[in-house]
Amino acid sequence: MIYADNAATTKIPDTVLEKMLPFLQGEYGNASSQHSFGVKARRAITQARRQVAEAIGAEETEIFFTSGGTEANNWVIRAIANAYRGKPTHMVTSEIEHHSVLDTCRALERSGVEITYVPVNEKGMVDLTALENVIKPHTRLVSIMLANNEIGTVQPVDAIGKLLRNRGVLFHTDAVQAVGHIPVDLSRLPVDFLTASAHKFNGAKGAGILYKRAEIELAPLLTGGEQERGLRAGTENVAGVVSAGYALEESFGVMDSEAKRLRKMVEDTVDGIKAKIPTVWVNGDSNPRLPGLINLGFEGVSGEALMNVLSLKGVCVSTGAACVSGKHAPSHVLLALGLSEQRAQSAIRISYGRYNTPDEVERVVAAVCEAYYKILHA
Ligand SMILES: Cc1ncc(COP(=O)(O)O)c(C=O)c1O
Repeated sequence: MIYADNAATTKIPDTVLEKMLPFLQGEYGNASSQHSFGVKARRAITQARRQVAEAIGAEETEIFFTSGGTEANNWVIRAIANAYRGKPTHMVTSEIEHHSVLDTCRALERSGVEITYVPVNEKGMVDLTALENVIKPHTRLVSIMLANNEIGTVQPVDAIGKLLRNRGVLFHTDAVQAVGHIPVDLSRLPVDFLTASAHKFNGAKGAGILYKRAEIELAPLLTGGEQERGLRAGTENVAGVVSAGYALEESFGVMDSEAKRLRKMVEDTVDGIKAKIPTVWVNGDSNPRLPGLINLGFEGVSGEALMNVLSLKGVCVSTGAACVSGKHAPSHVLLALGLSEQRAQSAIRISYGRYNTPDEVERVVAAVCEAYYKILHA
């Protein structure tokens, strides 16, 4: 089996699992308890907060643990909308965001919040001038993702942040696919809120991170407890939080070498497939792009059929975002690039990660090419 779907989720290394296990077994205390079990759990969370803060250039007090990227995205967008309830409120996002941003914005739209979905160009990039032109006096928040989960394009969040800071507008970036894979330094990056998720960087599922710049106020999304300094109620997922700390520390340690290795694997994959299927195309800009992710389009076949045949051959890829797989609707991201429905439905996403090896590339290429011609000639 070859797992090439690391943008959907990743494997937990033994080194990280070892750090998590005590908190699922002998040291199972509730971090809010005053006795020694509680103290150990609380210390573990403090340590994880320190590790995360250090890895992304933030202060410990700016890091909040959540149940995942979805919750962190919901939290920022809903809390800002709530803060301005009863006043004219406009928010801006892009057409290629993850559904946890898009569907939240759509829900707010139904309750009267004005939302602008800025388009992207055919490479999947947000245009800065177009963004600037939609800012209004009552724009309260802009949410633009750092790296896209389907095509891997990396948005110019530095430039976007500077533009918004000059206009006095809050800026949130969904960095779920970026953190742990490309440098993210919040001591320089002009963003106010940032979302990350442990299971995308070899941590556990169900452990997310919200970074909130210290001077900015945000009301809780979940109420009913004093956890996370009163801003996120609910008993902490101690083992998950611990995984976030150690997995991020590990990912940052190998980030440069991994990025180089993964870029080469992606390049070899594209070259190998192009040699046998000259009509194949790459969806989204190649530069800047996440190191291990590539989205390819195949003339005349459906991505879903390709993915299914590949799965039978032991190669696991995706047709796009994991949450849209299984649905027959074409990807909103590929449609936003201007692809026709048919072309949007002929894409697969290959995403390599820490546990993929260069010798797997040849097998992926062979499997993709065999599967393609098998479907084409069926
Ligand atoms: C860009 C992006 N944002 C948010 C999420 C949601 O994160 P989580 O799975 O932790 O809820 C994902 C997961 O696929 C993602 O890729």
